[in-house]
Amino acid sequence: MFNKNVYIERRNRLKKELGSGIALFLGNVDAAFNYPANQYHFRQDSNFLYFFGLDHVGFAGLVDVDNNKDYLFGNDVDMDDIIWMGVQPLVKDLAAEVGIEHSSPYDDLADFIKKALASGRKIHYLPTYRGETTIELAALLGKSNTEVRANPSVALIKAVVKQREIKDENEIAEIEKAMFTAYMMHTTSMKMAMPGVVEQDIAGTIEGISLALGGPVSFPIILSMDGQTLHNHSHHNVLETGRMMVTDAGSESALHYASDITRTVPVGGKFNQRQAEVYQIVLDANMNAIKAIKPGIPYRDVHFLAARTIIEGLKGIGLMKGDTDAALQAGAHTLFMPHGLGHMMGLDVHDMEGLGEDYVGYDETVSRSTEFGTAYLRLAKQLKPGFVLTDEPGIYFIPALIDQFKAEGKFMDFVNYDKLESYKDFGGIRIEDDILVTENGNRVLGKPIPKTIAEVEKTMAEPREWVKKEGFI
Ligand code: GLY
Ligand code: MN
Ligand code: MN
Repeated sequence: MFNKNVYIERRNRLKKELGSGIALFLGNVDAAFNYPANQYHFRQDSNFLYFFGLDHVGFAGLVDVDNNKDYLFGNDVDMDDIIWMGVQPLVKDLAAEVGIEHSSPYDDLADFIKKALASGRKIHYLPTYRGETTIELAALLGKSNTEVRANPSVALIKAVVKQREIKDENEIAEIEKAMFTAYMMHTTSMKMAMPGVVEQDIAGTIEGISLALGGPVSFPIILSMDGQTLHNHSHHNVLETGRMMVTDAGSESALHYASDITRTVPVGGKFNQRQAEVYQIVLDANMNAIKAIKPGIPYRDVHFLAARTIIEGLKGIGLMKGDTDAALQAGAHTLFMPHGLGHMMGLDVHDMEGLGEDYVGYDETVSRSTEFGTAYLRLAKQLKPGFVLTDEPGIYFIPALIDQFKAEGKFMDFVNYDKLESYKDFGGIRIEDDILVTENGNRVLGKPIPKTIAEVEKTMAEPREWVKKEGFI
């Protein structure tokens, strides 16, 4: 974990921002896989990690704003636990590690909350995303599960977003560690993308790299020749020459900060002309976004800049036509890129998404579009130094969507549907980088992962020795 002063300072800022009441943070408990004692790998709640730092099961943290006190509730292990889990630190010692003086057995929390409620004090809590947390909060607060779900504290959500959206240098250093793992995962994936290899071989290998370098993947790996399916978790295809393979994968650092990178490569290592043409358009969109990212610019403007690049590029290869501004205005690009340019990233790969996307990506100056495609934009508000976000444009040829829009006569002035027919077997291309907004512009995080056509071809022509040895290629 970070130095205890980091957590003390975060909780003190939260007190200032919230002004009054009690903020209650329930850490996560183990989640059963197929029977109670067989559990998923433990993942602590990100908000608990942010304010209390402890990566342990079954704790609660409480910030008493009115009395300027912080509390940790949790149980010391007994002999049974020691036999199965080994010796564990005492709760009071864990509390001291994150600058907390007041620690108590977990059961004392119920009394504390009961007394606070009896004296009319406000208990703030964040939205829940696990049933166990909802049930526990309902028991503590004397409410139904439905009431708990319906009434998270908007004041606490806003205060937490305001803090977590600005990453400090300790957090950037953690993200950089996750980026190094992503570099290893993606360069390996590229080198393995040869005809005859089953996608699962690659997906399994790069997930193993993530684990071997210290953390689980930050989200289930997306890896497929069928890149037109945006979140494709099926890895059964045998790679074929002439197709492209999307790998969208990232890792968590030891302190649970994420990376989230996408690369798309031609199976076999050489782009054919059609692949190079479409790839270059996506790359131009990615690079134009990078040139534009700086404090003050609304990310929605950067999204539309990438969309404009895609329209211009697709006009250049005869798949789109007409006036670029009119096409953009009509949303014709959403046939090819039916998603947003990016999202915040940090302790969650889609950072703070559990708090409500509209609180994270939008504010009073910009509200969510209801238009197809643009409605999926997760981050639209003005950028500030310290934001970490993704830049992930794509072009996808989704046969069902092409057929539907054509049948509806949609975008007839802007799309060459006849030519598009011959791209229905193409798949999709996405290129994703993780970017820090700096005082003057931005910095692309991590060791650069091959991205230009020349860099990708060069990397794919130099197989890793162990990959060759293991017979993957
Ligand atoms: N990894 C999913 C995404 O790029 O948002
Ligand atoms: Mn991604
Ligand atoms: Mn992403």
